[in-house]
Amino acid sequence: MNFEFYVTNKRISIKLLLRRTLQRSVLYSTIFLKEVLQKIGGLVNSPPEAEGGNMKFFIDTANLDQIKEANELGILDGVTTNPSLMAKEGIKGEEAVRNHYKTICEIVNGDVSAEVTTVTFKEMIEQGKKLAAIHKNIIVKIPMIKDGVKAIKWLTDNGISVNCTLCFSAGQAILAAKAGAKYISPFIGRIDDSGWDGVQLIEEIVRIYSVQGYKTQVLAASIRNSNHIVRCAAAGADVCTCPLEPILGLLKHPLTDIGLAKFMEDAKKTA
Ligand code: E4P
Repeated sequence: MNFEFYVTNKRISIKLLLRRTLQRSVLYSTIFLKEVLQKIGGLVNSPPEAEGGNMKFFIDTANLDQIKEANELGILDGVTTNPSLMAKEGIKGEEAVRNHYKTICEIVNGDVSAEVTTVTFKEMIEQGKKLAAIHKNIIVKIPMIKDGVKAIKWLTDNGISVNCTLCFSAGQAILAAKAGAKYISPFIGRIDDSGWDGVQLIEEIVRIYSVQGYKTQVLAASIRNSNHIVRCAAAGADVCTCPLEPILGLLKHPLTDIGLAKFMEDAKKTA
């Protein structure tokens, strides 16, 4: 059945009208869908531009035995510490702190972050200068506060590399990069603890730095487990810093253990 009627003197069949309406709605929906997908892709799904960078492994501890163990694995690129980690090892007093950092620098051939324990611009740059003088591999860790941004700029301008710590937002990461920090440390575990997804922040910062061409390296910190490391690698983090456990956790898979036991058993038959 095909109804016909007249519109402004033109004879149009219902069939034709329906077909044209359908064609237009398919066309418009396709355009709309494409735009939506492009937007979502740009914001959420598109992976950061691959530049062939290898994610570095830092160990997040001041414990010398753990630092040595990770270093002996042959995969360690550096160390991060903070005042809580130093206190945990019972390091007390300016001289002990200095000696401890020196020892760490002698164990690991890579960047070693040493954090300031002051919060004013003047004090942070004074302490930063002293920390940097301990060893050429020391990176001065500065908190993301107003005076911290000023200190990052001053220290960077004066040839001292900075790791900007306590980052919890993309805005803070932009400021740190603008001030010239060598590293930005977003604390993903603490973000997870507060009910958000820390790795999403890593993805966001990696994307922003790539779009803007910032040279600051994204150092994923406050890592709690091996899955965090894997997700940070996928997100394009330049560095992950973690305790020894999550690093060793990467080794583990039950099928590896079962497979190895069988190979060892069968190897006896060929001996
Ligand atoms: C980063 O450099 C910090 O030392 C560290 O990763 C903080 O981790 P936490 O949240 O486990 O204390």
